[in-house]
Amino acid sequence: MAVAVDSRFWHPFADMGAVRRSELVLVRGEDVWVWDRDGRRYLDATASLWYANVGHGRAEIADAVAAQMRSLEAYSAFGDFASEPALELAELLSDLAPMPSRVFLGSGGGDGVETAAKAARRYWFEVGQPERTLLVSRTSAYHGTHGFGTALAGIPANREGFGPQVETIQVPHDSLEAMEIELERVGVERVAGVFVEPVIGAGGVYPPVPGYIEGLAALCERTGVLLIVDSVICGFGRLGTWFGIERWDVSPAMIVFAKGVTSGYLPLGGVLISDRVAEPFWHAPGGPTFRHGATYAAHTTCCAAALANIALLGRDGLLERGRRLEQRLLDALRPLAAHEAVAEVRGGVGLLAAVELTDEILTHRPDAVAGVVGHARERGVLVRALGRAVAVSPPLTIGEEHLAQIAEAMDHALAALGADARPR
Ligand SMILES: Cc1ncc(COP(=O)(O)O)c(C=O)c1O
Repeated sequence: MAVAVDSRFWHPFADMGAVRRSELVLVRGEDVWVWDRDGRRYLDATASLWYANVGHGRAEIADAVAAQMRSLEAYSAFGDFASEPALELAELLSDLAPMPSRVFLGSGGGDGVETAAKAARRYWFEVGQPERTLLVSRTSAYHGTHGFGTALAGIPANREGFGPQVETIQVPHDSLEAMEIELERVGVERVAGVFVEPVIGAGGVYPPVPGYIEGLAALCERTGVLLIVDSVICGFGRLGTWFGIERWDVSPAMIVFAKGVTSGYLPLGGVLISDRVAEPFWHAPGGPTFRHGATYAAHTTCCAAALANIALLGRDGLLERGRRLEQRLLDALRPLAAHEAVAEVRGGVGLLAAVELTDEILTHRPDAVAGVVGHARERGVLVRALGRAVAVSPPLTIGEEHLAQIAEAMDHALAALGADARPR
């Protein structure tokens, strides 16, 4: 709720001139619900920032974290140091992976993207093609806010004003032909890798056009370009599988993961690095060292949280549940397309969807998306503004009755936009 104090807390991606006096302060969570400090309850229709896959307040994870903290809170993973949770997690993730791989662990999605970008470039350096440095991404892509991720941004506003960046190229997200033409134009012998979200998330929830992922994998295979899958949102049940990409029969060079790996109980992310890319670094003592990794890489207690979270995802059948509900979520939201203000309702691949508003309403009412989000919040449902669209990505534990509640809140919110949003 709105509080009138002048905050000292600088929020990410926020209009601080406005937010400084109107923060929503949350104090408690339980499954799909969160409460603010005035005791108001909200349905968390976005799983926080796409990550609370097992829902909030799971004691099993809190207990595992407390137990790990009591025995060994953390120790460096540099050089030959390891902890049991890190080893166990790497083993488990590698067993679950869709390709033979090693596991590099960091603190989140953005540093996973850094790891993958640097591993791609360093791989080509080690195999005698150091000119392969160029990285490719797609329009509407989001790959975090670190250095490489900013340069790879397919949402123009996320690159602007930060000065010169690493050289990358962006291609239309829905055209394999455009990708092929662009790789030809720049010369594949200069290209290290292509970053691809299986379903584009923060850029507006765009499932891939049919055949795109398989076609891109074949193109990468033909040209040697590394296929780097960014499954930061799509993993751990969001698309109904462990790494999201298993829905297509492809074998990536690397997969970046974060968010759902711990359901956000503690920060963790990483990269599955295929044996092809790992080989130059792993094949014999005295080989090249990947001089990369942050202090909290493979943080011991974060790894324990991931293990407990993955156990819950498996025990409660949440991957299957997410898969079962993906069509139901789309079905629940589809009638919103009848509102004059709605251009499109997207979803159906994974438990995530977006309701995009029309050019007309956005021209007439530039604050229309924020208006819908605000009205839904007043009705006790947290949805998220994503540029021209409103996004929904609930915990995988969501019930069908809650899907109806989300749709109803958005229906009222769209109606409240006024005359411009009259149902047809
Ligand atoms: C696809 C994708 N990649 C990378 C990131 C960055 O992850 P983080 O915010 O943990 O750095 C995000 C975050 O939303 C994401 O959606």
